[in-house]
Amino acid sequence: MSSDSNAQPRTQPLADRGAAAGISSGEALSTVRAEFPALSRRHGGETYSYLDGPGGTQVPRRTIAAMTDYLERSNANHEGAFATSEESDAILAEAHAAAADFLGASGPDEVAFGQNMTTLTFAVSRALGRTLRAGDEVVVTRLDHDANVAPWLALEEERGVTVRWVGVRAADCTLDLDDLERSVGPRTRLVAVGLASNAVGTINPIPHIVEMAHAAGAWTYVDAVHAAPHLPIDVAALDTDFLVCSPYKFFGPHLGLLYGKRERLEQLAAYKVRPAPSEPPGKWETGTLPGEAIAGLLGTFDYLSWLGREFGGADESATRRATLVAAMRAVRATELGLARDALTALGDVPGLVLRGIVDPARLDERVPTFAFTMAGLTPHEIAAELGKHGIAVWDGDYYAYELIRALGLAESGGLVRVGLVHYNEPAEIERLAQALREIAGRTAASSPPRA
Ligand SMILES: Cc1ncc(COP(=O)(O)O)c(C=O)c1O
Repeated sequence: MSSDSNAQPRTQPLADRGAAAGISSGEALSTVRAEFPALSRRHGGETYSYLDGPGGTQVPRRTIAAMTDYLERSNANHEGAFATSEESDAILAEAHAAAADFLGASGPDEVAFGQNMTTLTFAVSRALGRTLRAGDEVVVTRLDHDANVAPWLALEEERGVTVRWVGVRAADCTLDLDDLERSVGPRTRLVAVGLASNAVGTINPIPHIVEMAHAAGAWTYVDAVHAAPHLPIDVAALDTDFLVCSPYKFFGPHLGLLYGKRERLEQLAAYKVRPAPSEPPGKWETGTLPGEAIAGLLGTFDYLSWLGREFGGADESATRRATLVAAMRAVRATELGLARDALTALGDVPGLVLRGIVDPARLDERVPTFAFTMAGLTPHEIAAELGKHGIAVWDGDYYAYELIRALGLAESGGLVRVGLVHYNEPAEIERLAQALREIAGRTAASSPPRA
């Protein structure tokens, strides 16, 4: 495996601090897995392995039940003078409050729902674009998913805004913070950056970056899509102006979630139809919201609250926010164990080159998302072989387009990506490694001997 050495400044989003045992026994893990109906799927007599979480996680039964219940009982449009509409509106209001608790926002009017993160980000970038002039600057990074890049690049063409790029240190796939410092200046209006990389798992030092941006008078737009299933998020502690995530990546239905500081959501002029509310969050929620998905998200928060009580040490008197933070601390503690196992297991596969942070002493700088190449096979061939074993992994660039280019892998099919979440079992890692060793062995045997 390749090695890495650069130490990062403060990475954790603050609420992450504090000990939690997590899901620490086989029995506890079985209890958790039983909450997810999809995890009982079998493949050739073995457990089907969902290592595709970064593309979207599985959902607990509480989520499915809440969606079904909404459709059976409360399926109605907004603000009607009848029972089902009132019930539906109550569910939407409760979901805003619960999402605010999940993110650490100060109230439900600081969070808006949308189709997905990409759509919400285009809405904010267009609204912000109206305030920008030629020569204003926006900073983006080569570590980010393109959904936190392309909406800002569009402003270059539309508004004459200058885009400044922050590079990546290829050795460990961390952001080049010196480059970032050089890129932020008096004309910077926004710094767009990810909390965690969806390709290689790096956690960025957001508190440090927000401080740097604010010192220059710029706003920050944090993409927390990949971080949300792994880390507690505290927008107040991060002090970011905006943060986005996608519930379908953290055990919920297909939806996007936008946080903005109240004054930011108020001051920007959103594109909306005229009778829609002029106040947040309604002004950011164009058209009719997907009520069944938002109801399902409440089921996800119920599941996480259960997790926080069962495995995070939250008691019945804890607030919903405290219980959700306890859940995510338990998730983090569990995943650190999985990450350690994965580093060891993948390190034993001949010909496998892991990208990103591989030093076990630096696990607090990454989430358990591992990306690699293997000698003699394309990433797609490896993913297809694993698929035959009932192991779901992604391959390609996963829209981390600039990173894959910076690593020189764009022409060769990118990387194989293994994404672990708290419901994955150590045995799945062992099975993955065994399958990869077999694949490596077969590939070596069929390769012509070198001259
Ligand atoms: C880090 C990251 N940002 C943004 C997105 C886009 O999210 P959405 O599908 O909600 O638009 C993804 C999706 O894979 C992602 O992983």
